[in-house]
Amino acid sequence: MVAQPVREDKFSFGLWTVGWRAVDPFGDATRPALDPVEAVHRLAELGAWGITFHDDDLIAFGSEDTVRQRQIDRFRAALDETGLVVPMATTNLFGHPVFKDGALTSNDRDIRRFALRKILRNLDLAAELGASTYVLWGGREGSETDAAKDVRAALDRYREGIDTVAQYVLEQGYDIRLALEPKPNEPRGDIFLPTVGHALAFIGELEHHEMVGLNPEVGHEQMAGLNVVHGIGQALWQGKLFHIDLNGQRGPRYDQDLIFGHGDVLSSFFLVDLLENGGYEGPRHFDYKPLRTEDGTGVWESAAANMRSYLLLRERAAAFRADPRVREALAASRVDGLAAPTLAEGETVTDLVADTGAFEDFDVSAAAKRGYGFAALSQLAFEHLLGAG
Ligand code: GCO
Ligand code: MN
Ligand code: MN
Repeated sequence: MVAQPVREDKFSFGLWTVGWRAVDPFGDATRPALDPVEAVHRLAELGAWGITFHDDDLIAFGSEDTVRQRQIDRFRAALDETGLVVPMATTNLFGHPVFKDGALTSNDRDIRRFALRKILRNLDLAAELGASTYVLWGGREGSETDAAKDVRAALDRYREGIDTVAQYVLEQGYDIRLALEPKPNEPRGDIFLPTVGHALAFIGELEHHEMVGLNPEVGHEQMAGLNVVHGIGQALWQGKLFHIDLNGQRGPRYDQDLIFGHGDVLSSFFLVDLLENGGYEGPRHFDYKPLRTEDGTGVWESAAANMRSYLLLRERAAAFRADPRVREALAASRVDGLAAPTLAEGETVTDLVADTGAFEDFDVSAAAKRGYGFAALSQLAFEHLLGAG
């Protein structure tokens, strides 16, 4: 029996996911607009814990203040009624034509200033609604032609933008951390901070680097042909996994935003195993798009499917870890051996050079012959994933 989603699972969804009307570059919307209030109720009924939004998902761009306030009040009432929380919020800096050359890295200074103000305004709302993470996805921060951008100047402006937002959070005393979301391309031909690795390196250059981390998305790393489990592993290692966007993707192609698990299923298995055992305690946030073929029923079925996929994988990963054969295989593969420091406690590099056992007397050919047993271990994982463990 697969567990039903409960609040403690910390499942959350973007308003733009279930609310996606399925407009794509080749066709019109196939579904009507979804009222955010309905989204709150439906997600709560399905067992979700949180809902997230871009400013424009909740309040149409350019709305009058009174209209804006009415929307906020209705949304807040729905949250109060259902107990759903807002763990994260973000800014739409890609939809309006004004952002066609980016926001924080637009060549137009006035647009950069407007973008900053748009972020700060929604940050106030995020704080008001109790969000603890603010995501910055550089949707249109990039270019189609290398003639259009001085990348070093763009990174200067990107850094200035993030530092300014961080400064504002500190000055307002908000309990909010910033999370950058890497993506290699789409909607721009090339986006700045294309991967987890680029974004981590960029964070190291920020003034308030301690309050800036990542919101990696499964499919985005896979669009770049990268191993998302390794990317998330490094983000965790650097203490920078502030949030995560779970979904599915089938290799390097357009951003599919499939249901979690509906892409590379083996990678999803190892990802859940890592999240559950790697010390990540943040939201399990789904950033997917219900297929364009779905009607209203299909939208909610797909939302439920994300949570069910996660729970199934969590159950399979737990069974894998608990299996004595797996423990034996892990030991045979010397997986634990990697946790042992390479130098002994107190040993210096001079001691290492003096250790003939490490080099002069080391039996290289015997060590080279030894197998690692990874095939058997990997097959055990595969069988557990299929429920055959
Ligand atoms: C994508 C992106 C977006 C961002 C979101 C947050 O799939 O292209 O993931 O969905 O996560 O816009 O700003
Ligand atoms: Mn995506
Ligand atoms: Mn995302």
